[in-house]
Amino acid sequence: MTDELNEIHSYDVVIIGAGGAGLRAAIEARSLGCTVAIVCKSLLGKAHTVMAEGGIAAALGNVWKEDNWKVHFRDTMRGGKMLNNYRMAELHAKEAPERVLELEEWGALFDRTKDGLILQRDFGGHKYARLAHVGDRTGLELIRTLQQKATSMDIDVFMECKIVKLLKDSSGAVAGALGFWRNSGEFVLFKGKSFILAAGGIGKSWKFTSNSWESTGDGHALAALAGADLIDMEFVQFHPTGMVWPLSVRGLLVTEGVRGDGGILKNSLGKRFMFDYIPEMFAKETADSEEEGDRWYDDKANNRRPPELLPRDEVARSINSEVKAGRGSPHGGVFLDIASRRSPEYIKRRLPSMYHQFKELADVDITKTPMEIGPTCHYVMGGVRVDPDTAASTLEGLFAAGEVAGGMHGSNRLGGNSLSDLVVFGKRAGEHAAKRALGISKEVQIEEAEINLALSEALAPFNRSDGENPFTVQHEIQETMQNLVGIIRNQSELEQAQVEIEKLKTRVSQAGATISSRRFNSAWHTALDLISMITVSESVAKSALIRKESRGGHTREDYPKPDPEFGKINHVVRISNKEMSVVAEPLPQMTPELAEIFKDDVK
Ligand code: FUM
Repeated sequence: MTDELNEIHSYDVVIIGAGGAGLRAAIEARSLGCTVAIVCKSLLGKAHTVMAEGGIAAALGNVWKEDNWKVHFRDTMRGGKMLNNYRMAELHAKEAPERVLELEEWGALFDRTKDGLILQRDFGGHKYARLAHVGDRTGLELIRTLQQKATSMDIDVFMECKIVKLLKDSSGAVAGALGFWRNSGEFVLFKGKSFILAAGGIGKSWKFTSNSWESTGDGHALAALAGADLIDMEFVQFHPTGMVWPLSVRGLLVTEGVRGDGGILKNSLGKRFMFDYIPEMFAKETADSEEEGDRWYDDKANNRRPPELLPRDEVARSINSEVKAGRGSPHGGVFLDIASRRSPEYIKRRLPSMYHQFKELADVDITKTPMEIGPTCHYVMGGVRVDPDTAASTLEGLFAAGEVAGGMHGSNRLGGNSLSDLVVFGKRAGEHAAKRALGISKEVQIEEAEINLALSEALAPFNRSDGENPFTVQHEIQETMQNLVGIIRNQSELEQAQVEIEKLKTRVSQAGATISSRRFNSAWHTALDLISMITVSESVAKSALIRKESRGGHTREDYPKPDPEFGKINHVVRISNKEMSVVAEPLPQMTPELAEIFKDDVK
């Protein structure tokens, strides 16, 4: 069987994923003297990072002097409904400004204030205008900058390589990753002293998503199937504004920057409906207060903001309710209107990608006409359980950063906090993976039997030439997750989801490669992607079933309120002997100094 394997590479640090977190980790590990490989399923630069369009959150205090890490920390924890790993949120808030300034130093061309400082824009759930941005192409600029830096540093990049399994040495530490080249179908083994997962999210398991084809949850599944813990998998973020029309682009992201820059939401009656959905925790001092032509709400912390800038979970649920009540737009969304609020010049300058996206794809001129939008699966808050300081997973030798890691965002992520998460924890993962690798002097060894087993599992779809078409199974996973584990959930649908997922697991194990050639065989690729998709789908559905409350990205119509008891626990997902279990574990206890920040919060 090892005849199948004629390519082996060895590095100190191997990074799986080449978005913002992977690139930042690579830069750090290389700068500490490690040999570093980045392996990516797609092309370098093509990552979900670019879908964080509106900005990177950091308390730079350039627009509001009052801003500081404590306010950012508080906003992040409140946005996550206090389920976040407090230490991750603390490190994130403290270190984000330094990471942004570093990006500037490395060449990122941020928009500027009149005084030449990095300009910051409003986003949902952030008390102050806090998002450093490059028009509505911030993620792209971040990738461009990190890519330029990384490629100047003698880091090896392996593109279009799908990793199918993590392999361990005799001590149980992760020591290898088996993959194949998507074009030739030939296998390749990466040996390493430390591995960093930076493989992004799971959004491709839903029908309407801002995620591209790569986001099949490979990183989550690789970790879980190797024995690492996942946490918080029930928390999936539906971004309030995705395109709903034309159908071919349904789900494509419409940046929150539109609302940050003044866009408002209206229903089919022309009503600005978000005022009807301001939650209890925010005082409804909206009646007649007008400021700069806007109506504002006040959250008792003297935070005056338009209701379109409530956290994403609140806005997505409100849109869903309007559509359900029959007040939606012709194609099942609502209207996002910036045309009546800002001049065409302003819109084209601040939101150039949105202007082109609607013009090219929907023949809509957003400087004249409202956009039709609706919620789209965008991000998973859950992920690999990591040590907050080192990004080490519960599996020796394996680190994780970015969307694939859990804990940082609790039950709901604030917009803009993902780009800062990528660079803060990408750096930390790179540093600690490098330190581990530099402490190991001996050659990495992996048993041949371990490699052979992984090879035979990867080739199994070729033994099922009459197996089911993997694209059909993929479609049905997406239908199941969209319809039964979507934005609003309930007991009976979640129970039905468990039944459907069990049936789909069998179908995944029977999906065939359809043709015998391994060259450019997308059916084979999809058959292997299905293993990741069904693994993450099961973890989300199982965790969602037992969380009998509504919190952040997890909304139960049968348990519409948060339950304080569930506010004390994370759900931990583990796979052992091919069986997945979900257990509740207490949240880490916040330090008294940090707890003080929340003393006046409405409970
Ligand atoms: O709406 C956006 O621009 C997305 C940003 C994010 O997910 O952080």
